[in-house]
Amino acid sequence: MLGSLIRKLQPALKQTQVLWRHEKQIRACSSATFHLLEDSLELHYGGTPMRFNYVWLRDHCRSAASYNPQTNQRNVDTGSIDLSIRPDSTSVRDGHLVLTWPDGHVSEYSLSWLADHSYETKKQSSVQPRILWNSDIYKNANIPSAKWDAFMNSDDELKKFLQNYILYGIAFVDGVPATVEATEAVTQRVSLIRETTYGRMWSFTSDFSRGDTAYSQLALDRHTDTTYFQEPCGIQVFHCLKHEGSGGRTLLVDGFYAAEKVRQQSPENFELLANIPIRHEYVENTGDHRNHMTGIGPVLNVYPWNSELYLIRYNNFDRSVINTVPHDVVQRWYMAHRELTTELRRPENELWVKLSPGKVIFIDNWRVLHGRESFTGLRQLCGCYLTRDDILSAARCFGLQA
Ligand SMILES: [Fe+2]
Repeated sequence: MLGSLIRKLQPALKQTQVLWRHEKQIRACSSATFHLLEDSLELHYGGTPMRFNYVWLRDHCRSAASYNPQTNQRNVDTGSIDLSIRPDSTSVRDGHLVLTWPDGHVSEYSLSWLADHSYETKKQSSVQPRILWNSDIYKNANIPSAKWDAFMNSDDELKKFLQNYILYGIAFVDGVPATVEATEAVTQRVSLIRETTYGRMWSFTSDFSRGDTAYSQLALDRHTDTTYFQEPCGIQVFHCLKHEGSGGRTLLVDGFYAAEKVRQQSPENFELLANIPIRHEYVENTGDHRNHMTGIGPVLNVYPWNSELYLIRYNNFDRSVINTVPHDVVQRWYMAHRELTTELRRPENELWVKLSPGKVIFIDNWRVLHGRESFTGLRQLCGCYLTRDDILSAARCFGLQA
């Protein structure tokens, strides 16, 4: 009723646009209230006030002419939208916001779609749900490992595995045959293998065949891998095929748990670690292997709209020369880095796992740090890196938030 009255009044309102353009225009319906502002529409719906820019609204029109529902791709030529566009008429009907543009095109948006996609909603929600953990939290959660047969054959088992992986950043599959081939098969159930300079599937013993401490019997402090890639590898997979000796437990630390402690205790230190770009570097000149890679980015990476952590680059072995900030900032950065390191090194944050033949671990290399204690005897480990995009895509296809 009110909507049709507004549509009738619209031509008159348009003529007096100059007079009222700085005043709030208030329209109401049973489920939503909107105000027409100078360059945006303010919508009150579901208890949240939201603002939608007019160009954004035209750009996000979901009519058949503007958006292809078969391919889920935009048809609108964004470069042709008048940047001072405003709707000629606006109403709310049957749970939809309906706008008529100056060229006569009509756009309809369901109110729930607008609420789901508003900045105000996204600002208050996380992209990926996570349960941050220290050793006790993880152990008390009693997360079951997937079982090889079920994992390979049941989509329900795969979905449970993916949910655990998303929430905790680590997940296990047990009962995998202790071969490189079976390890490869189990990883391909999850994602695509990311081939690197270390190969597609790698398998190594402590033979120092590459110029990296990983190829020794030495302990390795906690770190994330491939920080020297512009995009660090998304997932690390380990499978211990054989170990005739002692030691060699794997250390796991939730980097986001530690980083959130820093954010709570010293927001200014968190900001420094999230804003100062650091270079990591890998230089190798061993036998046939010649590499020189660099990756640049802050230690902590957060989404700018909701401050959610999505990537930690922490590798003291591979961190290169700091030369991107002046000396006084360097001092403050070291203090911030020390606080993060202190949190990462707290014994209560360390989860120690003995990897044995048959147990394959998947580690979110953008979140969980890994390390190991020193060991004796022959230890044969295999594994690979997986792409992050594809595991998250698989999770979303199962309806999981990721
Ligand atoms: Fe590593």
